[in-house]
Amino acid sequence: MSAKGAYQGLCGIFGCTLINGSAAIIIHEGLKKLEYRGYDSAGLATVHEGKLYVKKGKGKIDEIHRLLNFDDLPGHVGIGHTRWATHGAPSPQNAHPHSDCHGLVAVVHNGIIENFHQLKEELEAKGHVFKSRTDTEVICHLVEEGLEEGLSLKEAVKRALLKLSGSFAVAVVSPLEPDKIVCARKECPLVLGLGENGTFFSSDLPALLWLTNKAVFLYDGDLAVISPQGYSVERIENGEPVDRAVELVSWSPEQAEKGGFPHFMLKEIYEQPQAVRNTLRAPRSYLENMCSVIEGSSKLYLVACGTSYHACLAGSYMLSRLAAIDAKPILASEFSEWCGNLIDEKTTLLALSQSGETADTLDAIKMALEKGAKVLSITNVMGSSITRLSHVYIGTQAGPEVGVAATKTFTSQLAILAQLSLMLGLRRGILEAEEHRALQEALLNVPKVMDFCLGNVGQLVKSIALRYAYAPSFYFLSRGINVATALEGALKLKEISYIHAEGYPAGESKHGPIALIEEGFPCVFIVPKGEVRGRLLGNVMEMKTRGASIISVAEEDDEEVKAFSQDFIGVPSGLPEVLSPIVYVVPLQLLAYYAAVARGNDPDKPRNLAKSVTVT
Ligand code: G6P
Repeated sequence: MSAKGAYQGLCGIFGCTLINGSAAIIIHEGLKKLEYRGYDSAGLATVHEGKLYVKKGKGKIDEIHRLLNFDDLPGHVGIGHTRWATHGAPSPQNAHPHSDCHGLVAVVHNGIIENFHQLKEELEAKGHVFKSRTDTEVICHLVEEGLEEGLSLKEAVKRALLKLSGSFAVAVVSPLEPDKIVCARKECPLVLGLGENGTFFSSDLPALLWLTNKAVFLYDGDLAVISPQGYSVERIENGEPVDRAVELVSWSPEQAEKGGFPHFMLKEIYEQPQAVRNTLRAPRSYLENMCSVIEGSSKLYLVACGTSYHACLAGSYMLSRLAAIDAKPILASEFSEWCGNLIDEKTTLLALSQSGETADTLDAIKMALEKGAKVLSITNVMGSSITRLSHVYIGTQAGPEVGVAATKTFTSQLAILAQLSLMLGLRRGILEAEEHRALQEALLNVPKVMDFCLGNVGQLVKSIALRYAYAPSFYFLSRGINVATALEGALKLKEISYIHAEGYPAGESKHGPIALIEEGFPCVFIVPKGEVRGRLLGNVMEMKTRGASIISVAEEDDEEVKAFSQDFIGVPSGLPEVLSPIVYVVPLQLLAYYAAVARGNDPDKPRNLAKSVTVT
């Protein structure tokens, strides 16, 4: 298989500066608590008596520990890393911590350095020798340069970080300044912990709670220096000191895992802006590889199950509208019957799967491979079966999704499909450069729009859900690309609230579904401004005149829709219709969530369903 694509997104970092005792033993334990963030390789670095000690390897933490014994690393100060997703195979060279040419620093990093190719070329031209294929290693060499020029560790790190574009949570140790760790964050999580016996940092709070309940949450753009006695924080951009207060955390470790949300599903709904933001950083080269395969094929199928299938539906619309590509969306469980005899070497299958393990999807892929087709995939789990079966794959960077009902992985899948369609549209001359630029800009702005939407609609949707939580049945209706959103809204409600719900193309609703409408029947309409709005309003009226209760999701300033809705959920205006599902689905996820909770169900573990369905 060639042209595989995966990049480092999640990962966990942990470290400590202790008054006394073994840093390695504490870091080892901390990393195990972060292992959910990644488990393809891990490593530790400590500083002791003017020397740097590093142990790292590939595999799970326990496996590496059995071989190398992390716990005998000497010293009170150290950093550690557990890694998820890799560029190429996981290997000891690519495992963190990384170091520079002369053993002056060790670095652990979570995030993606977007300009690392360019920085690496510049550093290599100056004679730096790279030992890994990671983006992280450029940080080591940049800090090394600063130290060699006589800068302090803090100043050298700060100057290095200012050269990076992308995201990071990073921590650096050096035998030159042995009793401290310099750490910083931009768009990746990082929290400090203050204990009796020292100061700690971690990618997340739950991994600290066994040590202390005193936490300092760093902000984007903060740099902290920690020592056994305490911490100081300043801004990376200008070195201005800032006060980041110590917070006393009363969460139990289990509550903390949910980030203070009552359920994983709600946490994951609120994580969507960040998940989409991270996902939109997919390197161009992976998208280009996919485009080339698609352009070289005569048939394209989009294949998946459940929520991922709804992403296929929206993706097929995007490919048609933006790139004039005919992509047939088909349920994986139906694929061989419907399309089996149509597959040949010129066929491409684009498979979507959050888990990368869904048996129906894998079966469809295997069948297509046997017939010589090309397989592309989009998944949230690097190293899953689907990544091994695909010619090219791209990872959504949503982080682990624990709630059974898919939320952030769905919107992340849509983000990649939109990027792919835009790129194909430009390459094929379907989109003018200006139109492409405007849509690309709108797509990059989607996380912000999602943020606004989440900030505005939460309480409103909760109150609507409470009123309708015992309705026996719901319709979700729209036209065009938001038929996919309607189907997804209905699926979410069904899955976790157990209320019967159907998603339907609104234009088709007069051919059957309308027969069920009577006084108070809840009909959720997704009404973006755009091409479909006019005809959709006609469908809304058909339902309303027969007594349906109209719950609409529309642009916040759409007074006309507001006027004939019992309940109106406004989302920020101005989003192009072709991108609208990524935002419009959010209130529907919340509706399902709050209805489930109102009915006393556990939305994270709905009855009869599984997160990953490995039977056909
Ligand atoms: C199960 C899950 C759904 C999911 C579907 C497809 O049914 O409960 O939430 O959408 O599988 O899963 P996949 O991992 O392939 O996206």
